[in-house]
Amino acid sequence: MARITLRQLLDHAAEYGYGVPAFNINNMEQLLAIMTAAQAVDAPVIVQASRGARAYAGDIMLANMVAAAEAMYPGIPVCLHQDHGNDEATCFSAVQMGFTSVMMDGSLEADAKTPASYQYNLDVTTRVTELAHKLGVSVEGELGVLGSLETGKGEAEDGHGTDQTLSHDQLLTDPDQAVAFVEATKVDALAIAMGTSHGAYKFSRKPDGEILAMHVVQAINQRLPGLHMVMHGSSSVPEELQERFNRFGGNMPATWGVPVEEIQRGIKFGVRKINIDTDCRLAMAAEIRRVATEKPDEFDPRKFLKPAMDALSALCRRRFEEFGTAGNASRIKPLSLAAMARRYQSGSLNPRAPLSVAV
Ligand code: G3H
Ligand code: 13P
Ligand code: ZN
Repeated sequence: MARITLRQLLDHAAEYGYGVPAFNINNMEQLLAIMTAAQAVDAPVIVQASRGARAYAGDIMLANMVAAAEAMYPGIPVCLHQDHGNDEATCFSAVQMGFTSVMMDGSLEADAKTPASYQYNLDVTTRVTELAHKLGVSVEGELGVLGSLETGKGEAEDGHGTDQTLSHDQLLTDPDQAVAFVEATKVDALAIAMGTSHGAYKFSRKPDGEILAMHVVQAINQRLPGLHMVMHGSSSVPEELQERFNRFGGNMPATWGVPVEEIQRGIKFGVRKINIDTDCRLAMAAEIRRVATEKPDEFDPRKFLKPAMDALSALCRRRFEEFGTAGNASRIKPLSLAAMARRYQSGSLNPRAPLSVAV
């Protein structure tokens, strides 16, 4: 068994200057594809489950699938993370199921739609962190609301997120507020708002600094060099995947995601966790479409899912290599939750010393 906490993994990533993709999982095929890629390049893994994934597969299935994957690949440290926890109940039920990390997304209220006040976010995140750390579990918070700087819209595409039009103040994390938030809540990692959004339709053109605000990453990194930042909505929506999806009957209007080179720049400035779901969906869906188109007589699900897994695995492997994750699994010895809890208690993990640097 090699289950690892987010905090230990991201501390290692910071020490050695790499980033870790966090891939969403909902089923066995996705998990196996990610693990195969990780094993091939010796990469530690973050797999994350949304509330939707937990409802789809069921907690018992998800938790046992991850345990099985760990048994199959004992040399690969695996962090099991709750993606976008909307309240304390979601976070703590994940902990009960063996998740070693939770995201308390207090940027929105518990309905996962209404933008929350700073005070609400601070209070709910602090409550989660206090208890999670007693159990050794890591916590990711979020400050600022995910959404497009082009349209001011949130992330309604996936059926969650706000449908309100947001101001740039809401859509961009304030670096000074980030310092105060991290100090008060003691989160292990902070998701920031910088113009990225979930789903395939992030940008209507190749993003520049106007619509993908990398300067926010740099400003926060200057103030809190030890902070692990998280980029959500970080699928690159590669042109070749769009093309393949459309070639076999898909209907995806031209769109742009987050270029890999921007993520690599972010990693130099403290981005340690990079959330990717859409690219994984697209890689699999394009192959399922291809088989359905090329072999209309096929009805064995494995004939659709095996090429889909191979395409996802190739994508994951590329990201492990591009983010520098490859080669690091065997350099990490996972600490138990009890050992992590003792570290939090002794104060050796908190607080992060902020640097008061003017930007
Ligand atoms: O948070 C966004 C991820 O892409 C998960 O999406 O809620 O449809 O599982 P989901
Ligand atoms: P994408 O939709 O860009 O893959 O983002 C996924 C994500 O942020 C999950 O939390
Ligand atoms: Zn997200």
